[in-house]
Amino acid sequence: MSAFHREKVLSVKHWTDTLFSFTATRDASFRFQNGQFAMIGLEVDGKPLLRAYSMASANHEESLEFFSIKVPNGPLTSRLQKIKEGDTILVGRKAVGTLIADNLLPGKRLLLLSTGTGLAPFASLIKDPDIYERFEHVVLVHGCRQVSELAYGEQVVKNLVEDELFGELMKDKFIYYPTVTREPFRNRGRITDLITSEQLFEDIGLPPLDIETDRIMLCGSPHMLEDLKVLFEARGFTEGSHNTPGHFVIEKAFVER
Ligand code: A2P
Repeated sequence: MSAFHREKVLSVKHWTDTLFSFTATRDASFRFQNGQFAMIGLEVDGKPLLRAYSMASANHEESLEFFSIKVPNGPLTSRLQKIKEGDTILVGRKAVGTLIADNLLPGKRLLLLSTGTGLAPFASLIKDPDIYERFEHVVLVHGCRQVSELAYGEQVVKNLVEDELFGELMKDKFIYYPTVTREPFRNRGRITDLITSEQLFEDIGLPPLDIETDRIMLCGSPHMLEDLKVLFEARGFTEGSHNTPGHFVIEKAFVER
């Protein structure tokens, strides 16, 4: 049995010069937990060329969705960005990852903190009815350099809140907080600073960080992850894993090269 499923590309959307998303068919046997990732790629010269990608679609959806950067001269993404409807992609059979609710201790507020394509696993998680059962509030923070980089996330959120079923489920629970660092926008600044200054909590009208109630998932740029880990650990938060649930869990946004 091959380690991969061969799936057909169903649609491709380019959001900026450096960001695109695509959907593909999903083999009925491909199972995953919302927030997990798999190896995705193309066959190049008869060999699989793969990178880790978080599923941006939820596990109850029929097709798969991914959100990717276009790395200049990146071996995979320079090719992947040219895919068209009907092309074949490879999807690894096994999904893994730490960004799952079971790795967190019970809490009241779930903070999903992402930069760039680190949004992808949270695009999946916010479509999971279970997280709205587990938490009173789900706060999705997405930090980018430019406003244009927020577009994919804005679309995912819009589709969800306008959905008949989800709109009702998320009402009064879900808060979307996009923030931009390098040009004017309604929310400005790095996630680290927005937490330290408590600006984020002021803006969303909820109490500041509290270890009793807050559970956190982090995905994005390695520097952001490092700084936030230090920030949370200094406040007594512990990192969770499959064996030991904690106050926060981390996954880096994968394709950088
Ligand atoms: P900034 O523009 O101030 O560097 P990148 O495109 O480099 O991955 O960055 C994505 C977003 O993450 C940008 O808004 C960037 O802010 C922010 N960022 C980068 N490094 C950190 C960090 N160490 N802590 C918090 N935010 C960061």
